Amino acid sequence: MNFVRIKDVNKYEGQEIKIKGWVYNKRSSGKLHFLQIRDGSAEIQAVAFKGDLPDEIFNLTDKITQETSVEIQGIVNKHERSKIGYEIALKDIKIIGESCDYPISPKEHGVDFLMQNRHLWLRAPRQRAILKIRHAIITSIRKFFDEEGFVLIDAPIFTPSACEGTTNLFETEYFDTKAYLTQSGQLYMEAAAMAFGKVYCFGPTFRAEKSKTRRHLTEFWMVEPEVAFNDIYDNMDLAENFLVYIVNYVLQNCKEELDLLERDISKLEKIKKPFARITYDEAIEILHKKGNETPWGEDFGGDEETLISEEFETPVMIYKYPAEVKAFYMKQDPDNKKLAMCVDVIAPEGYGEIIGGGQREENMNILLSKIKKHNLPEEAFDWYLDLRKYGSVPHSGFGLGIERTVAWICGLHHVRETIPFPRLMDRIRP
Ligand code: 4AD
Ligand code: MG
Repeated sequence: MNFVRIKDVNKYEGQEIKIKGWVYNKRSSGKLHFLQIRDGSAEIQAVAFKGDLPDEIFNLTDKITQETSVEIQGIVNKHERSKIGYEIALKDIKIIGESCDYPISPKEHGVDFLMQNRHLWLRAPRQRAILKIRHAIITSIRKFFDEEGFVLIDAPIFTPSACEGTTNLFETEYFDTKAYLTQSGQLYMEAAAMAFGKVYCFGPTFRAEKSKTRRHLTEFWMVEPEVAFNDIYDNMDLAENFLVYIVNYVLQNCKEELDLLERDISKLEKIKKPFARITYDEAIEILHKKGNETPWGEDFGGDEETLISEEFETPVMIYKYPAEVKAFYMKQDPDNKKLAMCVDVIAPEGYGEIIGGGQREENMNILLSKIKKHNLPEEAFDWYLDLRKYGSVPHSGFGLGIERTVAWICGLHHVRETIPFPRLMDRIRP
């Protein structure tokens, strides 16, 4: 007899089947023992009835502890009140692996304790719902770029130079020299866009963030499209289509998970085109009207982003920031040298910046002067400057942070639950 995955039990009504999984909860009432079993695909209840079973089997079901792994055999019966609609009338059970004193009991635990036990916490329904939504988001991203004719180009993790400033670089020895863990695959995508037109990379990126906020990880996953001949406005169109696609995909495929997380779906249903597009100057005006006195020229932090997002139901695209607060590669606004042709996309409901990107400087001389101005070592960027020497074209792209996107779509306060094994300033275990 083959094993059936729990999600497929509906195909076996009235038949005897075998299931393998973990007992996550147990309840007894005299002659009946109810085992709640999970196998990763779904959950089901197995009922052990004393009258139906040899004593040794019935007694064994009584001794089973939380998270014991088991192999069970029994008959599939309808059970309207359960989520899956069926239960199993137990005939036989074998213990695969015992579980003694499982630390995460069904009672409440503090976040620190749960994070310390992240390797076990992953089994909890809420954590599984979040990570299944993360999976769906990543699936939708790959589908979107496939359908749009992008080529996946993997960027390296060891890099010789900084993409996003030198303050949060992780440095490592690299034989006789130094290397940095990548902060972004962008510079490599620019090279690849000149070869393939439309490309993207998707991988882990690293930043030694010394701030403990609910939006920062030291290791996070970023997806970065880059398109030759796109200007900043084409780039905004791409970001808009991309986000609408992701949210729709999750709404269509993750109803059960969103429900478990008690996510207010009506908020996600409002994620439709067009998104609000405002300049940095207009964003400053909104802030001042709301009593936030950020002076012109300063970058926005979480507080400012939240205040601005309160004005809109869709994500809001803020473009043309002061060049001073942005990275060296940003194209200079042809109408105002002080501005960069960049765009940040701020999620609604206070989830902060989920996308950063813009048009890249394609002019060799301006780019070189920016590298010098940012005190970056020219020799590390010689290959990047080549892209401006040999058939340079206008081009644009952006980076979407997966964890912040998961936090927004799931409605989570902190990014630590959006990645299987979070790396934070004060956490590198498990
Ligand atoms: O705005 P950032 O720094 O942009 C770049 O890295 C560009 N080179 C991307 C590009 O144009 N190809 O980062 C992009 C996004 C942010 O909007 C945010 O969602 C996420 O990456 N992000 C972080 N997520 C979690 N923890 C951190 N420490 C993050 N830093 C950035
Ligand atoms: Mg940014």
